[in-house]
Order: sequence, then C-alpha cells, then structure tokens
Amino acid sequence: MPTSTIDSFNFHPGRIVARKYVIERFLGAGWEAEVYLVRECATGIERTAKFFFPQRNIKDKSLKFYARKLHKLRRCPIVIQYSTQDSIIYKKHSISFLVSEFVEGELLTEHLKRQSGKRLHPFQALHLLYALAKGIECIHSVGEYHGDLHSDNIIVQSVGLGYNLKIIDMFQWIDTPGSNIKSDVMDLIRIFYDALGGQKHYAKQPPEIKAICCGLKHSLALKKFNSAGKLRRYIEDMQWDKL
Ligand SMILES: Nc1ncnc2c1ncn2[C@@H]1O[C@H](COP(=O)(O)OP(=O)(O)O)[C@@H](O)[C@H]1O
Ligand SMILES: [Mg+2]
Repeated sequence: MPTSTIDSFNFHPGRIVARKYVIERFLGAGWEAEVYLVRECATGIERTAKFFFPQRNIKDKSLKFYARKLHKLRRCPIVIQYSTQDSIIYKKHSISFLVSEFVEGELLTEHLKRQSGKRLHPFQALHLLYALAKGIECIHSVGEYHGDLHSDNIIVQSVGLGYNLKIIDMFQWIDTPGSNIKSDVMDLIRIFYDALGGQKHYAKQPPEIKAICCGLKHSLALKKFNSAGKLRRYIEDMQWDKL
C-alpha cells in the first residue's frame, strides 16, 4: 500500500461506494476524516458515513475505537447510533468508513453564529449547558468520557424549551478515565463560556453564571463539579431569580 497522505476524498453526489451506498452530499470534515450523507441503496435509508484518512487510522485503530465506544454508549440518548463499517479502495489505498445514524440539525458552531450578537442569553446558555451535562452524565456514569467536546462535535437537532443535542466524534486519550472525565467537565464549561460571548462579555455576566464558569479556573471549577452529573444537579438546584 502507498504511504502518501490523503486529506480529502471529494466524493461527488451520485457516486456508489462499496456497492451499497450512494453519496448524497458532503457534511463536513475534521482532523481524521471526511463525513458524507449517504443513502443505503437496498433500503433508501439515510445514513452518515465517516471516511477515515488512512494516515489517521493506522490498522483501523481510530475506526475500531470509535465503533466500540459508540456501541458501548448506545443507550445514551446524546450519542449517535453506530450502524456498521466497511472499506473501499481509493487511489490504491484501502479506506475504511464507519456508518452511523444521520443526525439532522446544525453544528453548535453554526447555531451560535446565527444568534444576535453571536451569543446566547444567559438563560438560554444554561439550557444548552444543562442538555450537555445531562447527556454527558450518561457517558460518565459508565466510567467513559467523550474526550473531544467542542462546538464542531455537537449537533443541535432542535431548540424548543430546551436543547435537543447529539454529540459526534470521540477521542482516545492515554490518561486515566478520572482525568478524562474532568477534562470533559472543563470542556463543557468552556463551551458555556464561549456561548455566552467569551472573555469580551464575561465581566458583565450575572454572579450565577460566574459561579459556574469559575473564570475557567480548573481547580475551582473541578472542586465544584467533578463530573457532568454534578454539574447537571447544580443547574437543577440553582436559583434563577437574578437572571
Ligand atoms: N452524524 C452526522 N450528521 C451530520 N453531520 C455530521 C455527522 N457526523 C459528522 N458530521 C460533520 O462532519 C464533521 C467531521 O466529523 P467528525 O466525526 O467530527 O470527524 P473528525 O474526527 O475528523 O473531526 C463534523 O464536524 C460535522 O460537520
Ligand atoms: Mg470532529
């Protein structure tokens, strides 16, 4: 097999892959893969296919890690559902891809950009943080972690009274699960802080908000919230009247 790197596939709509799926459209790309909306030829069902760049998926390690983790977390409603995996030959490389449920919605990044002032009202941001904490709590409760929580890995399915979210992508760290869970908590607080407008608007945030963000100081925040469940309970019990 050639060892040169591939950083884009550029599959066009209508292309058939692995004789089973037809490419509908490009959905996005990240560090390790390109992701497409595909349709299963036999059933007409829409799916998402993540095509790994071979240099980011040596011996299928990334695909196996992701597939096994999605399977282990299949009962957590915030996690996308794994379907199957397959491979194709592309420019003489064997390219593996992971098929999962297709989540309709928009990336949190895009959602935030569309808001007036490109930021959320504190109450709305609390709803976002609550949905995230509740979703990630399910992952932490089985001793697992996400490992790469940021606004390009969160899909907003709908916003009503609260947020309906799905998370994609996961990252394998070599640290102990305990420290990875703490990193997830700090990532959640960071997402909340950024959704509120970041540093530029932080000084004027109400004290209830600052009590959660803790100025992004890890030691302070982690003393209060050592898992997503702790954060979820804190939000449920907090007083809203000054917001
Ligand atoms: N299930 C999905 N539904 C819709 N878009 C998706 C889905 N999975 C991935 N994407 C899009 O593809 C991009 C890259 O996918 P991701 O799994 O995060 O790959 P990477 O590990 O390379 O970051 C995402 O940021 C998003 O835009
Ligand atoms: Mg990603």
